[in-house]
Parts: sequence; structure tokens; C-alpha cells
Amino acid sequence: MRTSVGIIGAGPAGLLLAQLLQRHGIDSVVLEARGRAEIESTVRAGVLEPGTVELLAEAGADARLRRLGQEHRGIALAFDGGRHRIDLYALTGRAITVYAQHELLKDLIAARLEAGGGLLFDCPVTALEAFDGSGPARIRYRDAGGERALECDFIVGCDGFHGIARQALGEREPPWHRQYPFAWFGILAATPPSAPELIYACHERGFALVSTRSPTLQRLYFQCAPDDSVDAWPDDRIWDELQARVPAADGVGLERGEILHKNIVAMRSFVARSLQRGRLFLAGDAAHIVPPTGAKGLNLAAADVRLLALALVEHFRNGSEAALLDYSRRALRRIWRAEHFSWRLTGLLHAFPDAGPFEREMQRAELDYLVSSRAAATSLAENYVGMPRDWD
Ligand code: FAD
Ligand code: DHB
Repeated sequence: MRTSVGIIGAGPAGLLLAQLLQRHGIDSVVLEARGRAEIESTVRAGVLEPGTVELLAEAGADARLRRLGQEHRGIALAFDGGRHRIDLYALTGRAITVYAQHELLKDLIAARLEAGGGLLFDCPVTALEAFDGSGPARIRYRDAGGERALECDFIVGCDGFHGIARQALGEREPPWHRQYPFAWFGILAATPPSAPELIYACHERGFALVSTRSPTLQRLYFQCAPDDSVDAWPDDRIWDELQARVPAADGVGLERGEILHKNIVAMRSFVARSLQRGRLFLAGDAAHIVPPTGAKGLNLAAADVRLLALALVEHFRNGSEAALLDYSRRALRRIWRAEHFSWRLTGLLHAFPDAGPFEREMQRAELDYLVSSRAAATSLAENYVGMPRDWD
């Protein structure tokens, strides 16, 4: 089999890239290790920056998102028993959209299949070869029939943090990396929303986040130990913990209900040294990880593939290498901005096991500044809604 761009991974990065290329008449094949049903049901991110929504429109995959996504013009910071609104829209003129990642994946998969583009599920990639540009690059993968190869001009590794593309790229220096001394416990609960907007709560027992999915389904997270287990948390214990950490507003607290799903998410910061070698490129979680506090992972994946799609289009149109060679530098600028924001928000809102009274006062002083200074709130809001396109 032969194609122009071989894409590893049918996550948001891989599927969006395929769709953007298709719109410019560039053919690609997406190879995905997992099955379609699993991809379409794995619960993950939920916050889309306006720039990501625009890109999904350009990819022709935004119809359901426009109907079912919820626009939020503010978020709340909760600490010291009170809630304080950050008015994203008043401060930046922009709003976020809450829409589940697996719903977005359903939309991108449907758009890809409708356009007749190559998308192969249950096909784990096993090796990447000959991507030095001297001839066609080769992706080796397995399907039900055995070992296969895909020849292509370019390979893009959109295969997430545990994929194989980053190893194949063979970095000479170790990546930048930080592990946090806590994790997030995430739940999906069958309840009505307890608040009109997302709540980020800083409490001495630990961080908590109240998000949403629909009028009947809510997504909530709370900080837990990195080695915690889902089995250690029966439903009542979860609700007790969340209610202890999230202050009630006007006497209205969190509403308890049936918990449909529980998972634990590791917290790390990670950036690969380079996103390119020869004809092999990295995008999305394969290249970088942020702790989820700033809701940046999916949005960064989208921003990467936008830049890469532009560079590939330029190459296929006029043979130019310039934008391709500049991809790593340009993408890393936004990546480091998001890394810093996510790290800072994580430090601001979580209970660190080694923090003493002084560190806790530092957190409180910064929270107080954020909710009382327009300049400080604007900086938070600008980063949260995402830096504009001309930032890259
Ligand atoms: P992935 O989604 O990881 O996709 C990679 C794909 O590659 C997978 O389908 C995998 O099966 C496939 N693959 C791996 N190896 C191979 C192989 N060898 N061969 C073939 N296929 C392979 N981000 C936000 O922006 N906003 C949020 O609100 C947010 N909240 C989050 C909450 C949680 C609990 C978590 C866990 C993450 C959150 N994120 C958030 C991050 C976001 O989910 C990820 O950054 C995003 O999924 C990255 O997309 P990706 O396409 O790069 O990688
Ligand atoms: C969600 C996830 C996040 O990481 C975040 O910061 C906000 C919301 C969510 O899944 O809804």
C-alpha cells in the first residue's frame, strides 16, 4: 500500500490531521492499534478552546459540536470557603466549549469514513523505516491477516505518550520531564449540573474540579494519591470527599447521584527535544504531555496538527521544505506556553505533600491576586481560552 502521509494513531491529532489534509487534496492513511468501539467510548478531555473549535469547522467536523457543545463564558475558582468567577468572555472576548473528547472522535471518524479516506482500526504499528528522505518511508504494521507495510512520503506519529514514533525518532538527549506527587480521580455521574460553570477548587484536603457533559451527565475530578486504586473509593466516599472540597454557593452544594465510571489519571509534564527527524514528525501527546489542570492536551494536539498540515500543504503544492523544517520550532513555542500555564495552575491549586504553612500562604496570596486584579485575571483567562493563532 502507498500513500502521501502515513499517520500513526486515530486520536484527536491523527484524525484531525487526516481531515485537514484531505480538505487540501492530500491523501493519507491512519493506522490505529485499537478498535473503533473502544476509541469511541474512552472517557477523556472535555474543554475545547475557541481556536480548536474553529479548526474543527475547517476540517468539516463541527456540526454535532455546534449543536451539543456547551459554551461557557466563565469559570469559578474556589478557595477559603468561597467561589470567585473569572469572566473569560469579558476579559478576552472569547469563550470555551465543553464537549466530550470521545464525541469529537466519533465526529472525526464519521467525517473520515464519509470522505472515503484511509482509516484502519486494529492495526498496531510495529516499526518505522527509511524516513531519512532518500526514498519512500515505510511503516510496518499488523492486521488480522499478518504483517503489512505502508509506503509513504511522510510519517506522522500521532500515537500518544506510549506510542512508538518518539522512540523511532531516536532523541539524542533525554526529554524534559516532571512527575507530580499526586494523580486525578475522575468520575462520570448521572446527575444534573451542580453549577452553571466549571469550578476549580483549592482545598487543604486537595484539588477538586467540577465539570459537565450534558444536562444529565457530569464529569468531576479530585486529587488523589499517585498509587491510589479505584477500588479504594466506593461511591459514598467519593461524594463525601468532593463535598468536603467544593464549597456550596448560596447554600447549594454538589448533587449526589449514580457514578457510572471511575478512572485515575497520572500527572506529568513532558516535552520531546525535537518533533522532527527526516520525514518523521511528532504531534500531540506523542510529543508532549501537560498535567490536565489547564485543559490543554487536546487543544495543543489540534494546534500542532494545524501547523503541520499547513507545512505539508505548502510542500505538496510547491515542493518547499521551509515550513516543514520550521514546524518543530513554531509548535514548541505554543507547547512551552501551555506547559508553563499547566504547571503553574497545577502548583496553584493542588495540595503538595511536602508543602508547609509558607507554601500554602503563597498559594492563597496568588489566588487572592487572581480574583482581585483585572491584570492577573486577564493573564489567566488569556491562557485558559488559548493563545491566538498568530502566536505560532
Ligand atoms: P491520543 O488521544 O493518546 O491518541 C493516540 C492514539 O494512538 C491512540 O488511539 C492509540 O491507541 C494509538 N496508538 C498508540 N500506539 C500505536 C501504535 N503502535 N500503532 C497504532 N496506533 C497506536 N486535554 C484538553 O485539551 N482538555 C481537557 O479538558 C483535557 N482533559 C483531560 C482529562 C483527562 C482525564 C485526560 C487523561 C486527558 C485530558 N486531556 C485534556 C488530554 C487529552 O485527552 C490528550 O492530550 C489527547 O487525547 C491527545 O491526543 P492525541 O491524538 O495526541 O493522542
Ligand atoms: C475537564 C478536564 C480538564 O482537565 C479540565 O481542566 C477541565 C475540564 C473535563 O474533562 O471536562
